[in-house]
Amino acid sequence: MAVSLVSEAQPQSSQPPPPGAAFPVCVEGATKSFRQGTSKVEAIRNVSLSVASGEFVAIMGASGSGKSTLLHVTAGLTWPDSGQVFVDGADLSTMSDGQLTRFRRRKIGLVFQAFNLIPSLTAEDNITLPLLADGQSAKLEERLQPLLNRLGLTPRRHHRPDALSGGEQQRVAIARALITDPAVVLADEPTGSLDSVSGQNICQLLQELCAEQKRTIVVVTHEPAVARWAKRVVVMKDGQVLTEFPTASFNNPHALAAHYQDIVNA
Ligand SMILES: Nc1ncnc2c1ncn2[C@@H]1O[C@H](COP(=O)(O)OP(=O)(O)O)[C@@H](O)[C@H]1O
Ligand SMILES: [Mg+2]
Repeated sequence: MAVSLVSEAQPQSSQPPPPGAAFPVCVEGATKSFRQGTSKVEAIRNVSLSVASGEFVAIMGASGSGKSTLLHVTAGLTWPDSGQVFVDGADLSTMSDGQLTRFRRRKIGLVFQAFNLIPSLTAEDNITLPLLADGQSAKLEERLQPLLNRLGLTPRRHHRPDALSGGEQQRVAIARALITDPAVVLADEPTGSLDSVSGQNICQLLQELCAEQKRTIVVVTHEPAVARWAKRVVVMKDGQVLTEFPTASFNNPHALAAHYQDIVNA
């Protein structure tokens, strides 16, 4: 999926920071509309989301419920029409485009369904790209090898994406997201292009990274089999947050799927 930074005038927030502003992720009352022909679609409406440090949250909802828009607003890839967005304590609306690009590179690891790897570069060169783009080549050795080891990519480091399986390509994309040691990892349908076994392996990896390294992770998905790996599920419908629930109350993915269906069908 191609994501481009929409060049819009960013709203300068005159409101006081919300209570969760110091969290790694804090979206407060965000609304975003898109024009579709002659009509206007409210992709998200007055949505708030706070994610604590070291928390793994899944945002669930049917296609078109506003999940990607919320993720893009959180990442500063698109500006909300109203509302506030704080990442790692910083108000995104106070940044220029250049500051936001640098901030995103350092603080936000992005993972997409389509991997978005550069085909002509090896796995290793794809992974190190954000660090080099940020002028941090001195940190390359200390960061790269542990990541390759942890993600099981050491034997594949010199391969180009077309020589890697889908699961391996997504592990490269996750390593690329982690190489700058970001405050938060945002993933949009990260298992959407994978078979179910590879998809579950990626989910398990994200859960382990969250537990071992106290990573703050937000995963957008429409699949209960993915959401069950998170600690908390936020359910969206028609651009709004319907409710949220902890996954600990469900001892198997079928029970979680049934609970989710009950919520969206209510
Ligand atoms: N760039 C865009 N232009 C026009 N409409 C959009 C755009 N992005 C999202 N939408 C609309 O906003 C709604 C929510 O979309 P999205 O956030 O992509 O939902 P989800 O990720 O849950 O499938 C949909 O109706 C979609 O068509
Ligand atoms: Mg989406």
